[in-house]
Amino acid sequence: MNNPIRVCIAGATGWAGSALSKGVHSAENLKLICGVSRTKAGKSLNEILHIDGEAIPIYGTATEALQIGCDVFVEYTKPDVAKANILTALQAGANVVVGTSGLSGDDYSEIEKVALQHQRSVLAVGNFALTAVLMQKFSEIAARYVPNWEIIDYAHQAKADVPSGTARELAARLGKVAESKLIVPLDKIQGPVEARGARLHGTQVHSVRLPGHVLGVETIFGLQDEKLTIRHDAGSSAEPYVTGAIMAIEKVGTFTGLKRGLDSVMEF
Ligand SMILES: NC(=O)c1ccc[n+]([C@@H]2O[C@H](COP(=O)([O-])OP(=O)(O)OC[C@H]3O[C@@H](n4cnc5c(N)ncnc54)[C@H](OP(=O)(O)O)[C@@H]3O)[C@@H](O)[C@H]2O)c1
Repeated sequence: MNNPIRVCIAGATGWAGSALSKGVHSAENLKLICGVSRTKAGKSLNEILHIDGEAIPIYGTATEALQIGCDVFVEYTKPDVAKANILTALQAGANVVVGTSGLSGDDYSEIEKVALQHQRSVLAVGNFALTAVLMQKFSEIAARYVPNWEIIDYAHQAKADVPSGTARELAARLGKVAESKLIVPLDKIQGPVEARGARLHGTQVHSVRLPGHVLGVETIFGLQDEKLTIRHDAGSSAEPYVTGAIMAIEKVGTFTGLKRGLDSVMEF
């Protein structure tokens, strides 16, 4: 068997990071060697996450954690520190998987430059949930054949950002295929134009925020007398993000530079 991939998770104690840490810890081909958290620094992940085996230290900063020497650094903290952590990891010789949301296109241009300088790789994935990744990919394929579609983004009542990151990413990806055709142009609408949603990258996007919903996105395609709905729904646990993140950790060393989206390393 090959040596396991040595993994450091920044944000290992967070909502998403805890589930991933447990997943990495139990994966045979991966070895969780340390985590990063400011408030749990100096403790071990074993005691925080109730996992057995060799002690897994927690450091207060990425710089300290990277001194141990990992193969893959997972960035799962907050947007304000994510870019600095990613650049530090690349400079320390690690490949990087980014789960943290909120980095801009300019941030990624800089990250790609540094990755190439150091001959390392970065795989950034806005949504690791496999059914979200497939929903996006299948929607892109459908948009090549069906010229009319709209996106609906569902979330719980407290989610203030609209549309969700996944819905924005989906609209941007569909926009690279084509703009969805409007039979009645927006300036010919009778009634409040908001009722037709927001036009993003050539797609009408509607955001529903209601109790009882967690996170879901659907693309509805319509043709004369037929329709197609492609929908992803996540429940309230962080489990949906574990399998995809593990796949990203396994695949990030297979290229040099920057790739975005899990499907960029999947075979179709
Ligand atoms: N790509 C995906 O599929 C996906 C899925 C879920 C979430 N996310 C994104 O992942 C990020 C984390 O989400 P979450 O819900 O897990 O957040 P969270 O529960 O608040 O966890 C954040 C983690 O990062 C650590 N952290 C925060 N600031 C830090 C800093 N300055 N230095 C070192 N560690 C720091 C926290 O520990 P301390 O507070 O102790 O430092 C904690 O371990 C968000 O951007 C979220 O949108 C992405």
